[in-house]
Amino acid sequence: MKQNFSNVSKVRGELSLPGDKSISHRALIFSALADGKSSINNLADSQDVNSTIECFVKLGVNIDKIDEVYRIEGAGINGFIEPDSPLYCGNSGTTSRLISGVLAVQEFPTVITGDKSLSNRPMGRILEPLEKMGCKIKSTDGKLPLHFLASDRINAIDYILPVASAQVKGAVLLAGLHSEEFTTVEENNLYTRDHTERMLNLPVEITRGKKITKISSAFYPKPADYFVPGDISTAAFFIVLALLSKNSNILLRNISLNETRTNFLNLLISMGAEIRITPKGNSNNEPYGDVIVLSSELKNIEIDPDIIPGLIDEIPILSIAGALAENNFIVRGAKELRVKESDRINSICLNLTKAGFDITEFDDGFSISGKLESGYKSFESYDDHRIAMAFSVLASLMEQGSEVNGFECVSVSNPNFLNQLTSIAELS
Ligand code: S3P
Repeated sequence: MKQNFSNVSKVRGELSLPGDKSISHRALIFSALADGKSSINNLADSQDVNSTIECFVKLGVNIDKIDEVYRIEGAGINGFIEPDSPLYCGNSGTTSRLISGVLAVQEFPTVITGDKSLSNRPMGRILEPLEKMGCKIKSTDGKLPLHFLASDRINAIDYILPVASAQVKGAVLLAGLHSEEFTTVEENNLYTRDHTERMLNLPVEITRGKKITKISSAFYPKPADYFVPGDISTAAFFIVLALLSKNSNILLRNISLNETRTNFLNLLISMGAEIRITPKGNSNNEPYGDVIVLSSELKNIEIDPDIIPGLIDEIPILSIAGALAENNFIVRGAKELRVKESDRINSICLNLTKAGFDITEFDDGFSISGKLESGYKSFESYDDHRIAMAFSVLASLMEQGSEVNGFECVSVSNPNFLNQLTSIAELS
């Protein structure tokens, strides 16, 4: 579907955004594992999170939505039932990687599948540690479908993450819940999002750049009541739109302020963005607060590759801010972008070239110089929700407006993106 965007003259007002996608997946998984009743408030309303719900329903977990609150009757250890057909993870990398840590340690076999994009994404990164733990998994070329064979016990391992991936860390930690011995996961300098360790209250040690997270069956989740703070990665699109439109001022309520997710805000502030953050509280160890964003003049600065894992999902929209800011924009150390919902380095470079910028594509990033060309453009989503939303923002900032092809994929993380945009945007 083609979506047309007219020029936005300013953005004003406030938004309360649906829950963070990463926290939502984990709240569901921990509730499903726990023995008893849990509730989740402000769960992300997205296709990806629905994929996690559907997988657990097939595993026999009761999940209901009553008055906007999800009620989950968890299965408890060894309480899942063997599904009668493969579990479909849709487009969701997080569902597939995290649920692998659950399925690989079950006493019955299961299969997981996904859509075309997910079926091309690397799974070898989770197979390797899970096989070290003694799990038996079959795949072709380390891609979906994955066939998990029945497992009766797992070995605790000490694992050094070879790729900066919170999904891999999460899979190992979830499998580690099934051993009385400690499993450890080590990250070096490149720290990934820490929702699993926060929400399960795991012991974490950081010394000289080395971060070690420990887990054992002593940390098996208990029933809980969750409130999921607003998704900062969803907020990112509205933040950049407000910064780059004149006379704008928006308030985003109850946004996740987890430090492993706020590199994007800190970087924009260093680029000259007027962003005011008011911390408000903590829920299940996850901090949140309000964020006010005002129109600003942005200037590109050098981006330390070590912070990239902490803003990996924001790079598509950051590239729009960078393209329209003073000085050239350069991002390096972001090779992981090549194996997201699309090859995001390539998707960004192709669209920005269409917009008239001079682009150099590197193996692990890209640089942007030159100017935005005038005229109506036709951008591609490459079936990637974050690319679709990033270029919807650029289209809204263009004098003659522009369009995004394949726009419907925004539902993967935010089906209400267009309504939210319309609610704060004044057209020229
Ligand atoms: C996620 C981790 C990140 C991120 C993804 C969600 C998670 O991927 O890109 O959207 O919830 O654990 P990595 O596993 O590459 O860190």
